[in-house]
Amino acid sequence: MVDESGIMAFGRYAHIVGWGKAVPNRVVTNHELEQIVDTSDEWIRSRTGIQQRRIAVDPAETTATLAAKAAREALEVADIPASKVDMIIVATSSPEHTFPATACAVQDMIGAVNAGAFDLSAACSGFVYGLGVAKGLIASGQAENVLVIGAETLSRITDWSDRNTCVLFGDGAGAVLVQSSPVPGGILATEMGCDGSGGDLLILPAGGSKMPATLETVASGQHFIKMNGRAVYRFATRIMAEATRRVLSKANLTVDDIDLVIPHQANERIIAVSMRNLKLPEEKVFRNLQYYGNTSTASIPIALYEALEQDRIKPNDTIVMVGFGAGLTWAGTAIKWGVPTEKETSLWRASQRSASYGLAKARSQWLRLSHLLGSNLVTEDGESLAQALSNRLEDWRKQLESDEEEEEQRHDPKQEKPSLPNGASSSDES
Ligand code: ACO
Repeated sequence: MVDESGIMAFGRYAHIVGWGKAVPNRVVTNHELEQIVDTSDEWIRSRTGIQQRRIAVDPAETTATLAAKAAREALEVADIPASKVDMIIVATSSPEHTFPATACAVQDMIGAVNAGAFDLSAACSGFVYGLGVAKGLIASGQAENVLVIGAETLSRITDWSDRNTCVLFGDGAGAVLVQSSPVPGGILATEMGCDGSGGDLLILPAGGSKMPATLETVASGQHFIKMNGRAVYRFATRIMAEATRRVLSKANLTVDDIDLVIPHQANERIIAVSMRNLKLPEEKVFRNLQYYGNTSTASIPIALYEALEQDRIKPNDTIVMVGFGAGLTWAGTAIKWGVPTEKETSLWRASQRSASYGLAKARSQWLRLSHLLGSNLVTEDGESLAQALSNRLEDWRKQLESDEEEEEQRHDPKQEKPSLPNGASSSDES
């Protein structure tokens, strides 16, 4: 069987089976911004729809910690341990470093000992790009479980004296677990596009290899987001509807088949114009940008999470996620939702998971020590002491997991039909 992307799918479908969200506690209102730049609540609301945003004011809260928090919740909902994750994709426009990838920090934080990890740079379109990559990995048999995360601390690369940009952005993270299944549906099609000629319209000019950091680049604010708002606006209002039509056509669907669109939450006017172009009724469009502003790669997964929380998505619904961003990039995906949207986790399971994360943290500390000490401190068998201790911690974590599996088998007899982890079976599919 060959799917729309030409990949031999062999009955391997990619379903979203877990979802998580993490946002900083600190809410910054439009009125607070009035105190630092020449703006007004009225201007921000009427031009963007944004009322407030979340900002990571604690330096210990970073793109990776937000991503890891969202990822843990997604694994909880999917009910799988971190060791079963094959790949972690962190889509981000505010990575912790140029290298190593933020995804590697997430791998370490959640103890995904069997996962590969990389960052995906496609600006605000990155999360949907990530879903496309996850689908490809699953359809081609290279992965069973892929974590796709959108995570940002844009506040750290925002010029807080530039009213053209600082009122727009916010921090946060959203994550999904995409899992292989024989049940038809899940991610039906993806559209990923780019027009690199628009690269200068939205750019963080310095800090890369083209313009390395110097005293001058810092003094002239070249390490902050620069944007030509009007040009980006024109691009966005054209491309959102176009990308939606393209992905629907790849999935052999029409606008009438859509149950819910989750657009990139950049600007209320961009969403309204794009959805009007598609002739899509208001009730089929999800919005939460009033609470978070534009969280770039995190905006769509956070909106997905809240749409699920608000019961706006049901099994068998057709969902479209569509976004645009710096690059200029755009991306859309059409999804046939495949799993129940309510999830209960037993206290026992939750405490096992939390112990497992504690062990992952301890293991990470010992490994770090081992990297520093090299072979200076060794056991009687000639093994590095820190490595030996981290191996012991990993054994305990594995023991926890196998206890968990035994417990699961005792309380939850397996269904015979091919099924998704949350209980949807092939007979659920229309
Ligand atoms: N408060 C008050 N006045 C402001 C502010 C502000 N925060 N920002 C700009 N203005 C002024 C401008 O200086 C301008 O004044 P002027 O006419 O005297 O020059 C006036 O308001 C109008 O400016 P416009 O740019 O025409 O305002 P517009 O209606 O286009 O809205 C906006 C600006 C909201 C930035 C809009 O262009 C937009 O949303 N563009 C898309 C931006 C976007 O989504 N970027 C993210 C892409 S995703 C990613 O990859 C991160």
